[in-house]
Amino acid sequence: MKHLLTTRGLSRADAIRILDTAGQMAATQSREIKKLPTLRGRTVVNLFFEDSTRTRISFETAAKRLSADVINFSAKGSSVSKGESLKDTALTLQAMGADAVVIRHQASGAPHTLAHAGWVEAAVINAGDGMHQHPTQALLDAYTMRRHLMPRVGRGVGVPGVGAGAGLDLAGVRVAIVGDVLHSRVARSNVQLLHTLGAQVTLVAPPTLVPVGVEAWPCEVSYHLDEVLVDLQPDAVMMLRVQRERMSSAGGGFFPSPLEYTRNYGLDAVRLGLLPEHAIVMHPGPMNRGLEISAEAADSPRAVIVEQVANGVAVRMAVLYLLLAGDVSQVGSHERASL
Ligand code: CP
Repeated sequence: MKHLLTTRGLSRADAIRILDTAGQMAATQSREIKKLPTLRGRTVVNLFFEDSTRTRISFETAAKRLSADVINFSAKGSSVSKGESLKDTALTLQAMGADAVVIRHQASGAPHTLAHAGWVEAAVINAGDGMHQHPTQALLDAYTMRRHLMPRVGRGVGVPGVGAGAGLDLAGVRVAIVGDVLHSRVARSNVQLLHTLGAQVTLVAPPTLVPVGVEAWPCEVSYHLDEVLVDLQPDAVMMLRVQRERMSSAGGGFFPSPLEYTRNYGLDAVRLGLLPEHAIVMHPGPMNRGLEISAEAADSPRAVIVEQVANGVAVRMAVLYLLLAGDVSQVGSHERASL
């Protein structure tokens, strides 16, 4: 069975195929007929053990636009609150005939366990696990960058009707990922995927929010946002949410203080002015307005934050399509087991 668990197992060809397919899906959405019959008779289960707005709604919309039957499960209000295990929950889904399980879980590795423990035959799609991975977020971010940036800084203008930048990677694109890298599955997924696609990534964070072992990641690391904005002149600045809920209450909690954080790492109107004319501002959401990003930056014409959400539907349609109905021989090799 084929799964999407991390961006690590995605080859350049796999990633471009997903982005191109997303472009085709987006083209269908801009026409009159929004609903495609592709997954009629298939069942997609959204299995959410952790809160979500964008990802859950986006997967539900994507599955419905492909005519799949959708079952939404959230741990709150389910038998999980009575102590039911992931295994027994999975066996229940298997009994209901799930073809794909989209899982968000607070434990890093839960999607991998679900995919490989033999409890379900369904394709497993990781919708965010702990501080580990959020592959469809990275794919929708890459899709958004490609649409906006490749005609300007890249090598082409894309294929009409299939989305700007179709067929291209992100070679030559400079991306600054700023903020709470330590707790961010979005950062981990993006660093890997952007590297695969040829982009140059710089992480910017206070030393306390940089993970141990980051030297082994395929990116640069800086503690100085202003320097990076001026010297690197990034094409895209991706602000990360400060994840206070994952910070230990023992040992002082949030450091630096919110005030210091905003002063040194927050994106505001002054820092926006340091960016090149064409640069875009990204955020995976949900945002802490006034902490990592000011309202002025979040609502500026350079911000593509709402568009990221819209692009998420097309990218998730592409992932569901390729895993459940696509020509899988072209998606990737045997490694697709951890695609
Ligand atoms: N970006 C993201 O994962 O948002 P949600 O937590 O709302 O799904």
